Amino acid sequence: MKIDWYPGHMKKARELILDLVKNIDLIVEILDARLPQSSANPVLQELRGRRPFIRVLNKDDLADPAVTKAWKTYFEQEEGVKALPLSAKNRSSSASLQKLCRKMAPHRCKPGRPIRAMIVGIPNVGKSTMINTLAGKKMARVGDKPAITTCLQQIDLRNGILLSDTPGLLWPNLEDQGGAQRLATSGAISENAYDQIEIAMFALKWLVETYPERVKERYKLAELNLETDALLAKIGSKRGCLVAGGEVDIRRAAEVLLREVRGGQLGRISFETPPETITAPEA
Ligand code: G4P
Repeated sequence: MKIDWYPGHMKKARELILDLVKNIDLIVEILDARLPQSSANPVLQELRGRRPFIRVLNKDDLADPAVTKAWKTYFEQEEGVKALPLSAKNRSSSASLQKLCRKMAPHRCKPGRPIRAMIVGIPNVGKSTMINTLAGKKMARVGDKPAITTCLQQIDLRNGILLSDTPGLLWPNLEDQGGAQRLATSGAISENAYDQIEIAMFALKWLVETYPERVKERYKLAELNLETDALLAKIGSKRGCLVAGGEVDIRRAAEVLLREVRGGQLGRISFETPPETITAPEA
């Protein structure tokens, strides 16, 4: 099933961002550290021009540390780009992000000349959480369903940083179906847009290839030498996902697997590695 989920206002959003960035000193893009490429907006790189660019690798607490480190190195190869792994839920992340903003826009750190930072991100990467943490109180809406709103907000952090938020303006690249499947695995795409069983199988295949010991340990499996659908069924039966007659309820098995992957029950997992890296090391 092809994942097809584009907000209809992309062209308008692109024009709006182009207009907005004219008065912006610094762009902060929130990415999901487990899938930094797939959770990036495909045109932001072009829209930023030569402005300093911070790529926040959020949900660091869920991602494989070795892979996150490799992503940081990869992103920072580009001039004017810094990557900052953090967990937006963690209060200390606010100080590290603000410190980096000051470092990257030193010419604006003056009284009456705040750093005008634009914070962007596709739905569900944790942008609202990051804004709440930066602002030190509940300001942005945080929720579990990818939502689209289009109003602009300015938030004065009252410490020399003026944040421009662009709620709902950015979209992921769903042309790349592998990326779309990784986004679905992470929970960033509405459940109505994909087939849960298909995505669970996609996730399980990646897990078996990349983190086999975690799968064995979590689901008490001695071996993983089964086809992916049979393995999912086995996990389902171990988890009691059964229908009348003792058959495995494969949809429930898929739900269980995806919930546990997203919740970090299989440990810190990354769903993609930077182009130079071939495989993620098993921790
Ligand atoms: P958005 O504005 O980019 O759409 O995302 P939002 O902040 O609403 O966050 C989406 C989900 O990601 C929320 O979970 C939020 O708690 C979670 N999240 C954000 N940052 C982090 C992080 O650093 N680590 C982890 N583990 N999770 C993070 P939710 O379950 O959908 O909502 P809630 O019940 O937590 O409010």
